Amino acid sequence: MISLAVNETIARAVEVLRENDHGDYTIPTKGLYPFQWNWDSCLTALGLAHYDEARAWTEIETLFAHQWPDGVVPHIVFHVLNDSYFPGPEIWRTNRPTATSGITQPAVAGFAVRRLFDRAKDKELAAERARALLPKIDAWHRWFYENRDPRGEGLVAIIHPWESGRDNSIDWDDAFERVPTEGVEAYTRRDTLHADPAHRPTKAQYDRYLWLLQHFRALGWDNAKLHDASPFQIVDPGFNAILIRSAADLADLAETLGEMEIAKANRARAEKGLLAMERLWSDAHGQYLCLDRVIGKLVDSASVGGILPVFSAIPKPRIAAIAATIERIAGKARYIVPSHDLDDPRFDAKRYWRGPVWLVVNYMIADGLAASGHTQVAQRITRSSVDLIAESGFAEYYDPLSGEPLGGGRFTWTAAMVIEFLKSER
Ligand code: GLC
Repeated sequence: MISLAVNETIARAVEVLRENDHGDYTIPTKGLYPFQWNWDSCLTALGLAHYDEARAWTEIETLFAHQWPDGVVPHIVFHVLNDSYFPGPEIWRTNRPTATSGITQPAVAGFAVRRLFDRAKDKELAAERARALLPKIDAWHRWFYENRDPRGEGLVAIIHPWESGRDNSIDWDDAFERVPTEGVEAYTRRDTLHADPAHRPTKAQYDRYLWLLQHFRALGWDNAKLHDASPFQIVDPGFNAILIRSAADLADLAETLGEMEIAKANRARAEKGLLAMERLWSDAHGQYLCLDRVIGKLVDSASVGGILPVFSAIPKPRIAAIAATIERIAGKARYIVPSHDLDDPRFDAKRYWRGPVWLVVNYMIADGLAASGHTQVAQRITRSSVDLIAESGFAEYYDPLSGEPLGGGRFTWTAAMVIEFLKSER
């Protein structure tokens, strides 16, 4: 009986992936996000591989076909014209052969490619496709440390909240006070047409998102200038952990494929990053915190960004402390892992990244915990994720108190993660 239900859920997830499949890339969901998103595609590839390995490799290859000459991989590739999303290519004006945004997103490609390779049934195909991607992912990693860690501290900064992937987190609120709004061109949002405005960012936040965009555009999207010129420079532990994990995974994969230079460079990046990460630890919160690089201070905001580092090889006592933090949170939330600590008065169960649960984040946290022996907490996260799907379908995100589905519906990476969770549970 159980396996019948599992097979049926997997079949429903595959339907969502097929619906959003545009041939060589997958959109996150119709209406709200009609283009290719960077980390969505990399995580989605894991779900695609379940029924079509070649198609899974294509998903990541399409993304990397739009890598910039300097190495950065943009956060959105605007493959088609579609005015249901704002800000579109006419606002970004990045001057690329295919329009793209001008900022990046969490570097999960190294992890995804290694996982695709390790699980591949067709090893010959996998070796060929992975070998071609290795130098491209390596170039992106190099870009990060050269451009977003200009003083060689071992940790990279994001310069726009959208780079974090946790777009509307409470983590950015204080630093956003420093971002002006004068001179923001008049605009009409489209996100609030597709999703409940009460679940989306406020106008004050949107103005600042756009101010930063216009500021970077005025600098000609020259990545050598953007970091230092940005009034918003945040070192996000989750973002760094994903990059560190990807660097370590890329190093392992490169070794397997005999690419020793790439292996060495990425091993060094991961090791340096892990040492530097310690600067972000907070005993009081039992997790890591963001660092505001402009003022040199930790941000007192306990978000899931500080829990995500379990995805990388942080010290064992840190993992144990984070596992305990998740258990504390699980005592208050019906579904875990909420994107913000419920004890924080700023927690908001329904608003985008200020409380809701996201299955991609759950997947990375559970993966790290399981790998380090915290199987019970990992299983609890997996259970929560599968329960959410059973009760509320393939939503963009979920209320951790009620389980209500929020944001966009029929969501691609949610479907991909469900396949992953169910396969690992068997
Ligand atoms: C939202 C999320 C971001 C994601 C995008 C597409 O902007 O915050 O992480 O990549 O939607 O799903």
